[in-house]
Amino acid sequence: MPPKPRVYITAPIMETGISPLRSRAGIEVYSGPLPMPRQMLLDKASKADALLCILSDQIDQAFFDACPNLGIVSQHAVGYNNIDLAAASRAGVWITNTPGVLTEATADVAWALILAISRRVVEADSVMRSGGYTTWEPQFMLGADIYGKTLGILGAGRIGSAVARRSVGWRMKVLYHSRSQNPEMEKELQATRVDFSRLLQESDFLSVHLPLTKDTHHLIGAEEIARMKSTAFLINTARGPIIDEAALVTALQEIRIAGAGLDVYENEPKMMPGLKELENAILLPHIGSSTIHTREEMARVAGENILCYLQGKRPLSIVNPEVLPPAIASS
Ligand code: GLV
Repeated sequence: MPPKPRVYITAPIMETGISPLRSRAGIEVYSGPLPMPRQMLLDKASKADALLCILSDQIDQAFFDACPNLGIVSQHAVGYNNIDLAAASRAGVWITNTPGVLTEATADVAWALILAISRRVVEADSVMRSGGYTTWEPQFMLGADIYGKTLGILGAGRIGSAVARRSVGWRMKVLYHSRSQNPEMEKELQATRVDFSRLLQESDFLSVHLPLTKDTHHLIGAEEIARMKSTAFLINTARGPIIDEAALVTALQEIRIAGAGLDVYENEPKMMPGLKELENAILLPHIGSSTIHTREEMARVAGENILCYLQGKRPLSIVNPEVLPPAIASS
């Protein structure tokens, strides 16, 4: 009997991603502190036929050079900016992600940030815990309204659309800026596609939903923030480096915009100096997709992509479809 193919998993994931693979592959899961140390990643992946990785693993040219047996890298995330796609394609390795299954959970976190920053929820909670609520006051903890305001969506893909859809209850005007038109959003929500400049100028809540690429790196910097309303809030649940974090910290310190709600950072898990002292920012530790069901689904899709590959089929969500790995090319 030929030996079973080897699957290496770089972090403990939900069982939904592992159990379908058990009968078909030898599986090893890294269980030390995360992220997995680089050298160990190279050693383990070099002996594997398939790798299931997470967004803190650097999958670059040196990685592919070290791993000639790999046919697939299955990312347990929708974003894959940690993976050098061109190097993967040159190496003939399929890269897959987990689109669709984390849309609603991530949109919920964008809204959690919108609500929490505008109504000062985190600040109010600490006032309560520290005994700061001594009497009801007409001008205590004043926040900003959401109802009837303008929601700006930067990147109207799956998650951006889901964030926009949630605005119906608040009767918001929806503007969006996106590479392609989104006819459903225009029809369902009377959303208007605008240029980037107008999005910056008119949004009361500007929510970022773009992938991180060379083109989107620091797309929002000091100049762009300067064009926003002084009463506006910036929300980021996409990728940190899309915003120039140093420029954002300065703008928040100088109260040039009203506030920011962040789930992602430029140098995760590090925070830009000054960020954590700000009262007009709410900071979450990249929990956009972190619900039990969503993480089960992400693991399931990541596992299924590998299963397809091991069965000689095309994985479900390939992000470099130009690759025709030997297993398929020769069949
Ligand atoms: C999470 O950030 C993801 O890209 O899935």
